[in-house]
Amino acid sequence: MAQLFTKDTQSIFWNNNTSAIQRMLDYDFVIGRKTPSVAAIVAPTGDSKFQNFFWGGDEVMVPLFKNTAEARKAFPKADVLLNFASFRTAYDVTMEALEIGGFKTIMITAEGIPERLARGMNAVARAKNVTVIGPATVGAIAPGAFKIANIGGTIENIINSKLHRAGSCGLVTRSGGLFNELSNIIAINADGIAEGVAIGGDRFVGSVFIDNLLRMQDNPEVKYMLLLGEVGGTEEYKVIDAIKSGRITKPIIAWCIGTIAKHYSSGVQFGHAGASANAERETAEAKNKAMSDAGIFVPSSFNDLPNKIAEVYGKLKAEGVIAEIVEPVINAIPSVRKSKNFICTISDDRGDEATYAGFPISSVATPDTGKGIGDVISLLWFKKQYPVWATQFIETVIKTVADHGPAVSGAHNAKVTARAGKSVVESLVTGLLTIGPRFGGAIDGAAEHFKYAHDNNLSPAEFLNHMKKLGIPIPGIGHRIKSLRNPDLRVVGLKKFAAEHFPSTPLLDYALTVEQLTTSKKDNLILNVDGTIGILMVDMWRALGYSEEEINEFISSGTLNAFFIAGRTIGFIGHVLDEKRLAMPMYRHPMDDILYQVDMAEEI
Ligand code: ACO
Ligand code: LMR
Repeated sequence: MAQLFTKDTQSIFWNNNTSAIQRMLDYDFVIGRKTPSVAAIVAPTGDSKFQNFFWGGDEVMVPLFKNTAEARKAFPKADVLLNFASFRTAYDVTMEALEIGGFKTIMITAEGIPERLARGMNAVARAKNVTVIGPATVGAIAPGAFKIANIGGTIENIINSKLHRAGSCGLVTRSGGLFNELSNIIAINADGIAEGVAIGGDRFVGSVFIDNLLRMQDNPEVKYMLLLGEVGGTEEYKVIDAIKSGRITKPIIAWCIGTIAKHYSSGVQFGHAGASANAERETAEAKNKAMSDAGIFVPSSFNDLPNKIAEVYGKLKAEGVIAEIVEPVINAIPSVRKSKNFICTISDDRGDEATYAGFPISSVATPDTGKGIGDVISLLWFKKQYPVWATQFIETVIKTVADHGPAVSGAHNAKVTARAGKSVVESLVTGLLTIGPRFGGAIDGAAEHFKYAHDNNLSPAEFLNHMKKLGIPIPGIGHRIKSLRNPDLRVVGLKKFAAEHFPSTPLLDYALTVEQLTTSKKDNLILNVDGTIGILMVDMWRALGYSEEEINEFISSGTLNAFFIAGRTIGFIGHVLDEKRLAMPMYRHPMDDILYQVDMAEEI
């Protein structure tokens, strides 16, 4: 690929460096990118799932992942890794990314990675054809397309330096500070840059001058190149060789800084680890002379560099190699921005008609739409359009658990409350509040424990032992009145539905082997309605292609009990309305039904 980045390039940002990422997204917005240049963030220690960023005056959510592999899996098109790990971790992060694969470019910001490690890392990257920018760099930019983190500075500076749109110079420097300085000089004396890379100041950096210049030679957007070398090293000679061999034909302007070094008696190391001459050939003077001899445009001093740029640019423009740039319209970032307090990802009431996960209510509400409650639940709870067998299963569950008579704890509570003169909603919630691990709320627990046992290949006996050690009754097993002799026909119905419509039911099949063992001990230890629902929901989600992590998350967030809550709400309301219809008086429990054993309190 001749171009390092395009307007579609997306990156994975390692470390939740919010200010640098915000700068990237501000740049994206200003230049009119459609998608944020940061697709995902790797934040190994954070607990959040996403981070909000401004997108112009609005906001976008960028997902957070615990590790690079997960981020990469979720965003296979994001082929740039921006490694903002500290120098202690940056090597491991890069090596892991190279192992995972799929990254075309890896930029490493950390300074001071041990040189032995940096050399090894760069060699692996080179063998895998991955462009490494850095270590010890501010990165790179393809103006008007993609900008890494802080390169170019503030938005004001970027626009002043014409870094918001492509020009015609290919710029390569070691230093990030001088990169910004040169961008500005090029903007003043020419038409800006087409692509720029600060390769980094460490002695052993990944991509070197020649790698970047060869790519720019092949990039039709680049009409001429500017190389800012430094005292120390021999990389500039590789560029000279490429000119001599005819591999590089585009005009190059170059200057090697550090000519002052000759005024010092011993070898001086300048700011960068690599900026120190170990031989005559490595001095800035020698390199400037050799480059000039090879036909590179070398100014007489750094101060003369702007004139050289104006001269080469003017010549190429006169020759028609460089055309006049039509300045693009840019988006302005509002000066006052306020981050949102709430986020909603399921429904939207801002248009003419509210939507459920993108579907207008009218498209699911009436019978002619062919949609039912199962569809509405799949949209609002899961933000997905489930297939018919799955939405019908959800509806079957809701209808199956709608009521189980007045004697069950929740209905009883709701009835007592209604008789105390409370409203429908007050009575309803007292009923709902009884839903828990013993009554109706064992569905998540059943899914969790049976899934664990199945995932870990526990035999039914091992599973029972495991639960005994945990000291809790197996959720989803046992019923007060239902037993082998008095089977729960709701369970029979759900199993029948699954047999007829589910592609397969591995967890149910396993649960039935557990039930065989528990009922052999006591015949009411059947797989109850809660257990059957929890287990079949896991089978449903697996068949729908959810990952184990996603299913575990549904379970831990209490999604499964919600099916019972939704269904039983119908029944509780029925009982409350029944009480009101019958105008029942306040209830008082008969005293003869209570064992009173109240001792005189002891004095302490
Ligand atoms: N796992 C293992 N052993 C159990 C279980 C279980 N889930 N349930 C009962 N037992 C055992 C008890 O330890 C007890 O053993 P023991 O006789 O050796 O002491 C025996 O069975 C009877 O226990 P009880 O608590 O008297 O059983 P009961 O019939 O009263 O309990 C209940 C019914 C509360 C549903 C119970 O089975 C249970 O807690 N199950 C797990 C929770 C659950 O699934 N609840 C949802 C029920 S369905 C619904 O509410 C819609
Ligand atoms: C229910 O659905 O409420 C029950 O299974 C509990 C019961 O005791 O009937």
